[in-house]
Amino acid sequence: MKYPLLIVTLLRLYLLQMQIQQNVSLKPYNTFGLEATARFFVEIQSVEELKSVLQNSDYQSVDKLFLGGGSNILLTKNFDGLVIKINLKGIKKISEGDSHVYIQAGAGEVWHDLAMYCVEKQYAGMENLSLIPGTVGAAPMQNIGAYGVEIKDIFEELQALNLETLEIETFKLNDCHFGYRESVFKHQFKGKYVITSVTFKLNKVPNYKVSYGDIQKTLAEMNVTDLSIKAVSDAVISIRKSKLPDPAEIGNSGSFFKNPEIPKTQYDELKVKFENIPNYLINETTVKVPAGWLIEQAGWKGFRDGQIGVHARQALVLVNYGGGTGEQIKALSQKIQASVLEKFSISLSVEVNFI
Ligand code: EPU
Repeated sequence: MKYPLLIVTLLRLYLLQMQIQQNVSLKPYNTFGLEATARFFVEIQSVEELKSVLQNSDYQSVDKLFLGGGSNILLTKNFDGLVIKINLKGIKKISEGDSHVYIQAGAGEVWHDLAMYCVEKQYAGMENLSLIPGTVGAAPMQNIGAYGVEIKDIFEELQALNLETLEIETFKLNDCHFGYRESVFKHQFKGKYVITSVTFKLNKVPNYKVSYGDIQKTLAEMNVTDLSIKAVSDAVISIRKSKLPDPAEIGNSGSFFKNPEIPKTQYDELKVKFENIPNYLINETTVKVPAGWLIEQAGWKGFRDGQIGVHARQALVLVNYGGGTGEQIKALSQKIQASVLEKFSISLSVEVNFI
């Protein structure tokens, strides 16, 4: 870089208050608590800062990793490139009609903080998605979901920075091709956009979804007689806390695998041999089987090998007790896949992104 250009770049970075650091530990930035180093690391607080980093000629040819809450990644090695932590903040109401309210949140907002904001303001639709780890910007990437609700059910639109043109583009519901833990950003547009904000369409009159799993049982245990947005959220939080390990205590990234979808004919054959095999019917020809059940039946629930293992209360969650490595967790996940394949002829696909 020529001398004057360097000064201009440094001045711009100084004015934007960004600091590109070197050899930064990513341990605090991934919920597995895995030790790995980023060769370069920067936190950005605005779209302008993000653009400025991407335009910086010093880093144009290095690999980039955009990080939200780090709750869906498995770091298997050091990252020999630039990690950009998205800290775009802000939650605001952008409009309101008779039945809906539109809330826009910056990609770097913590998902659960947004869920709690909506619960407090009595905006309905997000209560079943309480306590999901991660950030708002990461949520549409894999159409996060829990207890019968997915982000697509409350999605209005999102804004994303096109990494080639550095222009902000708007994606409506149909543009995102949401599916079960899927979106266009994991396929056709993988690595091509960074989500900068998401707008949600929330209901002023709640339409409670309480039939899934243990929600009703938990509401009864909580002595709830009059349903409210807060009560449903509290029940979901209670269930999640009882099953899923808190990443602040035990490293994990929630469900490690997706629940596999198999042909109904295969399910019917398995049912003969394994009469208790649970299912969620997708349509007349396809059945979704809980991966947690398959992994438990294959004998892995509560398995521990040194510092890594399979959670004792939810077999779908792999854990790092502290000091385990991403390679070890990856190897364990492959052993689990092999044994589930052998026992059930079902191939489990991974929900977590390997880096
Ligand atoms: N099950 C077992 N053993 C286990 C775990 C589960 O037999 O160790 C059985 C349960 O008894 C139940 C069924 O599997 O019959 C479903 O279990 P659960 O309700 O815990 O949900 P899941 O299908 O395992 C999915 C999501 C979770 C989400 C819950 C609740 C996926 C990959 N996971 O898990 O999402 O919280 O439903 O809606 O779809 C995440 O993606 O990180 C996540 C936690």
